Amino acid sequence: MAIHVDETHQTFHLQTDHTSYIFQVLAHGILGQVYYGKKIHVEPQYNHLLKRELKTATPAYSLDEPDFQIGAIRQEYSDTGTGDYRRPAYQVTQSNGSRITDFQYDHYEVVSGKKRLKGLPSTFDDTEDDAETLTVHLTDDLIQLELELNYTVFPHQDVIVRSANFKNHGTESVTLNAAHSAQLDLPDKQYDLVQFAGTWARERHLVRTPLRAGLQAIDSVRTTSSHQENPFMMLARPNTTDDAGEVFGFNLIYSGDFLDQVEVDQWNTSRVLVGINPDEFEWQLEPAKEFQTPEAVMTYTADGMNQLSQQLAAFYEEHLVNAKYKRMERPILVNNWEATYFDFTDKKLMPIVKQAKKLGIEMFVLDDGWFGHRNDDKSSLGDWFADLKKLPKGISTFADEVHDLGLKFGLWFEPEMISIDSKLYQKHPDWMIHTPKRRATPERNQYVLDFSRPEVVDYIYKMMSKVIKETKLDYIKWDMNRYITEMYSTALPADRQLEMPHRYILGVYNLYARLTQAYPDVLFESCASGGGRFDLGMMYYAPQAWASDDTDAAERMKVQFGTSYGYPQSMMGSHVSAVPNEQTGRITPLETRANVAFYGAFGYELDISKMSDAEKQAVKKQVAFYKQHRALYQFGKLYRLDSPFNGDGNVMSWVVVDDDQDHAIATRYQLLNHPNAPYERLYLRGLDPDKQYRVNDSDETYYGDELMNAGLFIGSEFDEDADVKKSVDFSSRRFMIDVAK
Ligand code: DGJ
Repeated sequence: MAIHVDETHQTFHLQTDHTSYIFQVLAHGILGQVYYGKKIHVEPQYNHLLKRELKTATPAYSLDEPDFQIGAIRQEYSDTGTGDYRRPAYQVTQSNGSRITDFQYDHYEVVSGKKRLKGLPSTFDDTEDDAETLTVHLTDDLIQLELELNYTVFPHQDVIVRSANFKNHGTESVTLNAAHSAQLDLPDKQYDLVQFAGTWARERHLVRTPLRAGLQAIDSVRTTSSHQENPFMMLARPNTTDDAGEVFGFNLIYSGDFLDQVEVDQWNTSRVLVGINPDEFEWQLEPAKEFQTPEAVMTYTADGMNQLSQQLAAFYEEHLVNAKYKRMERPILVNNWEATYFDFTDKKLMPIVKQAKKLGIEMFVLDDGWFGHRNDDKSSLGDWFADLKKLPKGISTFADEVHDLGLKFGLWFEPEMISIDSKLYQKHPDWMIHTPKRRATPERNQYVLDFSRPEVVDYIYKMMSKVIKETKLDYIKWDMNRYITEMYSTALPADRQLEMPHRYILGVYNLYARLTQAYPDVLFESCASGGGRFDLGMMYYAPQAWASDDTDAAERMKVQFGTSYGYPQSMMGSHVSAVPNEQTGRITPLETRANVAFYGAFGYELDISKMSDAEKQAVKKQVAFYKQHRALYQFGKLYRLDSPFNGDGNVMSWVVVDDDQDHAIATRYQLLNHPNAPYERLYLRGLDPDKQYRVNDSDETYYGDELMNAGLFIGSEFDEDADVKKSVDFSSRRFMIDVAK
């Protein structure tokens, strides 16, 4: 049993295998947060944890209760304007203009399992993995508004998923101005906030800062989860490392405007809020209607950030990713984007396809430029039919040719977009998001379709369906290459325009849901100018995502290392591309490029038909090697060993270990080589201390405890005696660690 309720004391104790989350009903039906952290015993009540002192200059609940001060307690889902001056979990404006509410505890229910949400990506428990769901009902009798707080406990991955649902049983509409998915009031502020910040081509770099007094937030108002910030956030004790220490993880199953906020108050308690960004949100809740927030994921461990990442990876694989893809090894693909950009014909593509077959690659992906008359990024978005100048025999014949060669076939779409130079725009100019009588701001020469309108989603669904059927498509890369500006829907009334950002995202989810249901065999990879929408909302439909447009091995190391804190390797689309690299001009060895890309959904993104024979041989070997080990690379437990975000960032290393602790692959990457370099060791993790291993088929064997505690000696990479002195900058060294037979 994961949820323990003491009805006498109205205490709710949510227990996972290693954590406890406790809250209690306080006076006037207000929910008080009691504890979240390492598992503790179930008790009827925890009054000592709720102890508080009378604070001066703090409002009282009433004249009769001067010592009940809601601004000084830790709350579960706080209101606006009644004495708690910290930022609220929700805000409801009523017909008289008031934002004051009085939600009081009413009742609760516990059910086993977890149902999916309607219209939103969400967690589930199809495998009957002992999940239990608690719903706590609160009511505001004056306006007949009900608030449901939902908590699902996934005991074996130490995860709790939360959401809120507002139901209007009254006779008048109310407006939600804020509706967060989760609130957590922690008793102190001794934490570092760990966020994953960046920009296009430099996504999800780790940034760690101690909490300070006041508000600190990570957010997006771009209608994507964004390149600049990511909804995944951690709060770690100052001494927490990858290997040890307490850390909380928070994420939101949502792809639009989000807010992760921490507010340290005057008494050094820390309030965490996770949800849709209230800056770009409002929702009119009519009588008999309800509003369901997206789900927030919360997790905790006392054993360091590697453990946190592993429990999240296991959780997503079991309870978020479409069951069809659970532990499904992803096909090795070649994508033509960096090979040809828009400049291709079937004649130019076929040698790549044929070469792919020879090298053992499993799928060919035709990227941007196959439709309309798109020879650059100025036209044709919305016209999802083949450009017969490039593919004279049509897209279905081209797909047949790829299939006949024994490869899977994938296509690029950017379903949410429209070009002015397109048939779609000629027919439906009003479908483009714009604010009437105002300038429409382009980005990458394109505009966005109003996906809040069902007829627009329907139209795109039909066009895509036709292509999917004609080509017997195996894979779709769903791109999204701009943020939204002049957000407005001509289909919505003036007083509902702030609903548009959320309605847009619901439209995106609707198209994803329809396509994934109608074509369950199509593998989706999400993409947004690289890693601009790398989030859990996307993961629900598309189990992999293009991690970054930066394919330079040295830069990718950082992107993938940062991403690995919150997302599994199987989600990270990662390819080997040509050198000099398109984004940095850097030349890195082919071996290093592959050693970086192996830790994800692997592929190539260059003209493999133009490689030298030696390079082709090397690629053939890489492909064969990856096929042998891809399950370990994609689904093995990942331990970060040396961080590129520490010190001068010259070295990065990590290791993946299989469930039986029999096989592991560690890779150490080094940016610049140093003369007369200091001695270094690689301290492995995740091995069985009592098993003996060989490293790269060594004659000697080593106990796991030796490899983890004494480490593996790393010699200098520069061979002074070599005849030809070759550069060993941007080098990578792979260590195959296998149990000795
Ligand atoms: C951005 C993506 O990240 C690239 O991989 C490529 O698909 C281009 N868009 C195509 O326009």
